[in-house]
Amino acid sequence: MAVHGYEAVRSFCDHPQMSRNPLHAATYDADRAAERLERWPLLEGSLTSGLERGEEGLSLMRELLAPDFRPAMIRKMAATVQDVVAKVLALIQFERELDLVRLVREVPLIVITKLLGLDEATEDSELFLNAAPDYFRGINPIVPDDARDRAELAARRMTGVLERAVENRRARPRTDMVSQVLEIADGIDDATTEDVIRALVILVAAGTDTTRLTSSLAVKTLLNHPEEFERLRADRSLVKNAVMELLRYESPTKFLVRIAMDDVEWEGQTIRKGSLVLLSIFGAGWDPRVFAEPERFDVRRDLKGSLSFGFGSGYCLGVHLARLQVGEILGFYLDHLPSTATLDPSRITWDPMNLMLREVTSLPVRIR
Ligand code: HEM
Repeated sequence: MAVHGYEAVRSFCDHPQMSRNPLHAATYDADRAAERLERWPLLEGSLTSGLERGEEGLSLMRELLAPDFRPAMIRKMAATVQDVVAKVLALIQFERELDLVRLVREVPLIVITKLLGLDEATEDSELFLNAAPDYFRGINPIVPDDARDRAELAARRMTGVLERAVENRRARPRTDMVSQVLEIADGIDDATTEDVIRALVILVAAGTDTTRLTSSLAVKTLLNHPEEFERLRADRSLVKNAVMELLRYESPTKFLVRIAMDDVEWEGQTIRKGSLVLLSIFGAGWDPRVFAEPERFDVRRDLKGSLSFGFGSGYCLGVHLARLQVGEILGFYLDHLPSTATLDPSRITWDPMNLMLREVTSLPVRIR
């Protein structure tokens, strides 16, 4: 079932009886799971164990990664992010027409590899550029087996790069994030190198598609609302809030996925143990009981309580980095995308098979 209202989405995000682990699904079949694990070991491994440490425990992934995602750490990245954005988006100053989905796609990937200190990945950035979206697509419960095969291959390639990086940092520690995560892992009793690598693969996947789609959908919204675009140009102090409104108005996330671990009573009905529950982040952001006149795009809107980055114990680890990047990308568009730029809605394309994300695949913009 799917829930769309703000209160239900918020409460199920972090509900004690709702798990993110597909092992709890009613359709779970141990024989089939063993077959799947054999065919897609990296993919299934990351899904099923999910680096969870007991149902109540803080996930190992958060223990390993959270210290590096604190706001103060991310603030130090501001100049780097600005530099990456300026370089990757530079073409916009010269071309007549560009696909802005394609243009922006390298930004989150380069930023994350710089954050991790992964020179190995930036050298082979094409590999990561293709691998991260393929991997993310494979986590999607409705994709066919051949997409899962591609995702497994992607995970293997990403793992290979990360394994080499981990090996290098073990031998010669640096000040980068891979070295820091290894140091944290050494202080946790049962954390293995494999856990570190799995956490890093998930991190790369979680931080790239979401940011790319947010930035792409943002252009669509802004070109469709020229008056708000101009308001932002005139007052850059609104950019931070505009990022959150862009996320609400054209959410990159369709659904978060949960599984009921027990019968759960909700609005007079019973959600049966083992049911798949889809939480519509988009719906929550358009709930008029919380966000009045949701169809109005308003960069000055009060967005307290926004669920765009989730809620509770699984709240987005990369929230500060995401807001920084989308803000910088938006700033670049405000500087370089002329008011005369136009978007032909009939040429926008989407990938309808992506259950979790609103995957816009091309956004051709006539720049001048
Ligand atoms: C605008 C971009 C982004 C959006 C909209 C977004 C959204 C979200 C949401 C809604 C969740 C909660 C998932 C759930 O409860 O099932 C989440 C989790 C997560 N996000 Fe993001 N995210 C973004 C960018 C990033 C970035 C840049 C990173 C890291 C580099 C990141 C890393 C993560 C991780 C690791 C989790 C899982 C946390 C956990 O399981 O404890 N995200 N994100």
